[in-house]
Amino acid sequence: MTKAIEAALFLHLIGVAVWIGGMVFAHFCLRPALGDLAPQLRLPLWEAVFARFFNWVAGAVIVILLSGGFLLMQFGGGHAAWPLHAMAGLGIVMMLIFGHIRFAVFPRIRRAVQAQNWPDGARAVATVRRLVVVNLVLGIVTIGTAVLSRGF
Ligand code: HEM
Repeated sequence: MTKAIEAALFLHLIGVAVWIGGMVFAHFCLRPALGDLAPQLRLPLWEAVFARFFNWVAGAVIVILLSGGFLLMQFGGGHAAWPLHAMAGLGIVMMLIFGHIRFAVFPRIRRAVQAQNWPDGARAVATVRRLVVVNLVLGIVTIGTAVLSRGF
């Protein structure tokens, strides 16, 4: 393995760790811990958490896309093993879902918090939760296909 491939794989996996690890923390640790808080406290807190976390995910997405694209070229481009194409496809679906969360659902949370419209805010946060579960499942399947690609 050349140094460039090692460096790209390193960055790729750091990006994956930040994204998947952040989703696990938000879903399994933060969400249940905030469950009993009143919406007036809970929703502004989610807005502040998401504002920071989504910047980290945006950075991770750029790193994963650039390093993954480079790695794919090194592993044969269009002729690479099918699990690598599956990874790229699943990765792109995850990125589109993240784009929807960040640019369609998150602004709804922001507007609801500003207007102190707690029912709307709670609905938007619930939408983020559902989409994060989808991305978490896709992320785990993607890691599985990445490991599977070793056998090809
Ligand atoms: C556009 C998206 C992506 C592309 C083009 C891409 C491409 C690649 C390539 C070519 C490798 C090298 C495989 C090898 O070392 O044999 C790799 C490794 C890996 N990728 Fe991705 N990837 C993408 C997204 C993702 C995502 C979203 C995840 C996880 C959620 C992921 C998880 C991994 C893992 C765990 C490895 C290490 C596999 C190993 O070395 O055994 N990738 N990726």
